[in-house]
Amino acid sequence: MRVLVKLGDIFGAEKLIPVASAHVSGVSYKTAGDAAIEFLRELEEMGARAAVLATTNPCGFDERLRALLELPEEVVEAQEELLSLYEAIGLKRTLTCVPYYELRPRSASHLAWAESSAVIYANSVIGACTNREGAPSALAAAIIGKTPDYGLHRPENRAPGLKIKVDFRPGDELELWALGFLAGELSKGAIPLLEGLGGLSDWELKGLGAAMASGGMTAMFYTSASYRRSRPESGEDLELVEIGKADLNDVIERLSSPEEPDLIFVGCPHCSEEELRLLAGLLRGRRVGPDKLFLICTSRYLRGANPSLISAIEASGALVVVDTCMVVSWVERLGIDVVATNSPKAAYYLPGLSGVEVRLANLRECVELACS
Ligand code: F3S
Repeated sequence: MRVLVKLGDIFGAEKLIPVASAHVSGVSYKTAGDAAIEFLRELEEMGARAAVLATTNPCGFDERLRALLELPEEVVEAQEELLSLYEAIGLKRTLTCVPYYELRPRSASHLAWAESSAVIYANSVIGACTNREGAPSALAAAIIGKTPDYGLHRPENRAPGLKIKVDFRPGDELELWALGFLAGELSKGAIPLLEGLGGLSDWELKGLGAAMASGGMTAMFYTSASYRRSRPESGEDLELVEIGKADLNDVIERLSSPEEPDLIFVGCPHCSEEELRLLAGLLRGRRVGPDKLFLICTSRYLRGANPSLISAIEASGALVVVDTCMVVSWVERLGIDVVATNSPKAAYYLPGLSGVEVRLANLRECVELACS
């Protein structure tokens, strides 16, 4: 309660409001460390229990990745203790950054979510309301069942602050997501209205938001269609920024290395059912190269719900991994130097967190790189 009240004081909230759910990050032992275990032990001993539905972000490994990583026993034990403590406090072991495919919040509901890609999806695609929480404040909201009423919980703060005009159609999801990354950089924390992007599918929007939330502190965006649906004002007086195709090439070059990859990773954010279907189609009749590792990350829930897609994907030699992702795992222990991915978010974080180079490639190219 002290965490929530302090946050409310800092941001000028007048009250706490109930939340329908909390989504907690800081679940991988690699990124959370021993401090998180000590903090959770203390909370658990004090009898803290979640008052609302509370889900968890990916951890450091699943059973399959654990075998590949050959982690020291003390690291495995620390990760398992972290998970047990979250469970003892009443958090669900969802271990995914796409909890909304299993437990979809209602439009206009108030949430306290950490994980920037899930936050921006909740605000922009679902129409729910959440600030970009940190792991401690999302956990505090899970236990109290409330969050301070400021930021994106207030309708007056959900108006766009700039208009980004796109006068070409991105050629593939990588160009679209590079556009998202640049929009995040240009928005400087304001809500962008993206004009000229129509007909985007759910997985394209999911990746667009994730990239935007990595390029900057963006927690919400509008497309022209979502803006028309939800805001009465015209948006004519907004500052206008134009993005051209050459700008996207600059972003991709900035985040990407030309080196040949040894690991190909798709699923940042975790793959949706639609992406699993696309991958199953692209991998039909193909075989992953003997010196390549092709890892596809999704949620345990979606893996369980799509057994035939998973079998079709894995018939190629690609591995579907759940509960984790390459960014929060110990990818450096796989003895690889270069990772190929279609995710600008992963390209942004992987070099710093794991010391590997990243090559950006679209989904089709990732399959080609894996099967060459
Ligand atoms: Fe999800 Fe990991 Fe990317 S948590 S958004 S797959 S960095």
